[in-house]
Amino acid sequence: MRKPLIAGNWKMHKTLVEARELVGGIVEGVGKLDARGGVEVLICTPYTLLFPIAKAVAKTPVMFGAQNVHEESQGAFTGEVSVAMLKDTGCTHVIVGHSERRHVFGEKNDRLAKKVRAVVEAGLTAIYCVGETLDEREAGRTREVIESQMGEVIGPDVPADRLVVAYEPVWAIGTGKTASPEQAQEVHEWIRASLAGTYDRATADRVRILYGGSVKPGNAADLLSLPDVDGALVGGACLVASDFIAIISAAVATVPA
Ligand code: 13P
Repeated sequence: MRKPLIAGNWKMHKTLVEARELVGGIVEGVGKLDARGGVEVLICTPYTLLFPIAKAVAKTPVMFGAQNVHEESQGAFTGEVSVAMLKDTGCTHVIVGHSERRHVFGEKNDRLAKKVRAVVEAGLTAIYCVGETLDEREAGRTREVIESQMGEVIGPDVPADRLVVAYEPVWAIGTGKTASPEQAQEVHEWIRASLAGTYDRATADRVRILYGGSVKPGNAADLLSLPDVDGALVGGACLVASDFIAIISAAVATVPA
């Protein structure tokens, strides 16, 4: 049984004062949920917030992570942050290959393969994002795109227990459009089949695959109840504590008592 993971991607939002207020609301809300230890909660904040967030979530069940990392361990890479620097903060997870990294910052599969390895070799968990654009979906290329994003980045040398995959259709991110439950389940099955080819079926069945793209309190229950959807990667709705908590509650409701 895969434990649901609800991850918030704060993107480039929140100053220190704002972040303290948001994380306070999240910690309080999670504390009130009867989570039965059955759901993991993660927030991925801007780099500047990692140290203060570490303090704010210490001794709570809320985990924290980063949204990106540089693939090299150190060097003349102005403006970049290494995985060792992330480890210093005590964070546990790093998002790799978010669609904004791919499409706004031009990161390609070969580079993302290095980033995933930098993360897992440091003992952190990579949340590796895949997803097709609207043009690719309309051209009937969704499966091909997902398979190359998986196959060119995830190999048997990536320890499966340090890997989470997130399916985020680019056309659903920040648009208010969500993949239908059928569309989401279909792609999640393709991702799990790709993992089974890379590892084996039993290992693939242990890897969590999150859905992301306009997840809101109103659609979370439908998405999270799908057999191959093991959680959510939430953008806009994670910036409002009550909405994020409502999505976590929807995940808690999927866990058998
Ligand atoms: P939205 O939930 O705002 O669509 O963002 C999704 C996302 O990109 C999470 O990483």
